[in-house]
Amino acid sequence: MAEQSVGLRPSSPRAETRTIKPCPRLAGQIVLPGDKSISHRAVILNSLAKGEAKIDNFAPGEDCLSTIRCLKALGVKIGKKGSRDSPTLSVSGTGAESLKEASNVLDAGNSATTMRLLGGLLASQPFFSVITGDASLRSRPMGRLIEPLRLMGADIWGRGRDSLAPLVIKGKKLQGIDFTLPLPSAQIKSAILLAGLSARGNTVLRQTIPSRDHTERMLKWMGASLESRGDSISLLPLSSPLVTINLRVPGDISSAAYFLVAGAIHHNARIVVKDCGINPTRTGIIDILLTMGARLRIDNERLEAGEPLADIVVESSELKGIEIGGDIIPRLIDEIPVLAVAGCVARGKTVIRDAGELRVKESDRIATVAGELSRLGAKIEPLPDGMVIHGGSPLWGTEVDSHFDHRLAMSLAVAGLVAKRETTIKHAQAAQVSYPAFWQTLQQILNY
Ligand code: S3P
Repeated sequence: MAEQSVGLRPSSPRAETRTIKPCPRLAGQIVLPGDKSISHRAVILNSLAKGEAKIDNFAPGEDCLSTIRCLKALGVKIGKKGSRDSPTLSVSGTGAESLKEASNVLDAGNSATTMRLLGGLLASQPFFSVITGDASLRSRPMGRLIEPLRLMGADIWGRGRDSLAPLVIKGKKLQGIDFTLPLPSAQIKSAILLAGLSARGNTVLRQTIPSRDHTERMLKWMGASLESRGDSISLLPLSSPLVTINLRVPGDISSAAYFLVAGAIHHNARIVVKDCGINPTRTGIIDILLTMGARLRIDNERLEAGEPLADIVVESSELKGIEIGGDIIPRLIDEIPVLAVAGCVARGKTVIRDAGELRVKESDRIATVAGELSRLGAKIEPLPDGMVIHGGSPLWGTEVDSHFDHRLAMSLAVAGLVAKRETTIKHAQAAQVSYPAFWQTLQQILNY
């Protein structure tokens, strides 16, 4: 099928359209892909360690493959085996000082996590790097990365007066900083910590609202001197290389979100999500669904790879609209598109506020979520920093578009499950970015 040109090019060359039909029952057990945020960090940090590491259940989506591709271009030996949906990586780290200048421009694809985390790392390496990405990533803000790295002494520039990628980095020895994060971004926090590992002097980061803490957990586990106390994190530069870690990556709660919402909003559903990461910095989706009245239970809680995980059971529920805003937003930022679908089905009004960051994600998610759900008949008003959803109007299947945004493609599929008539999703291949098996997994729980 020919591509429609809408400004942002898809990361996968083949355009795909998926049709979702209403289904009388949703039931089954879901095995999730490995967590994307943890996978990026596991492969980057093990590349900086000395020795062989094995990472099971590595996130199979294109974003983490972009990180692998960049690290290989920097000289890291990474092997991949096992199944497509749950690969095992072997990473042969030889220490941060043995990374090599890449012979070409590094390509982060659609992945801001790749670009920002590697941006921090490369700023502290003694060589030259250029990193770029697809059209979506090249439109996302990079000033937030460049500014703190420059305070550490970095030579880093970007297009658009240092606000956009491609980024050009002349790596060098940096200085630690004492820095208050102006926004709760785990990518920027992690970039600064990566830069701080080989800097002169300590790095202290202060955060007013916490963001996901996978980098801090993993660095501590790998032997870095890092302390998180209250709202501040302090890191000493490494005095010896990080220790490699073998781990099995927990299931991605951001991927679980589609099935948690589907189970809660469908009139005849029972879905079990296995081995799902429930790090408290990521569980806003569970808190909100429970507040909306979801019949949701957490079973078999345990700790693996320094991260908590559990099985989650969700059943058909009568949801009610609520207000979502404030400090919970970073704990569910990637789940807002699918929470908006829950808001469409809930009784009463759902108001989402303090989520202006949605405007600079893989698409402008306030505009695209409100626009595409409106096409299905939802009553949504976009706000500068969120949206108001008047729940309870029936959804009517029609043709909608992912805007090449993985989370929108999958959220629209969930909406299609409760819409009357068929819903056709254009550019559904976007799901590959985080969840290549999404459509097959969805198929497995449809009971006709
Ligand atoms: C991520 C952090 C968040 C999140 C993104 C993944 C990470 O972005 O939205 O999908 O792995 O660090 P920000 O750091 O921009 O808030």
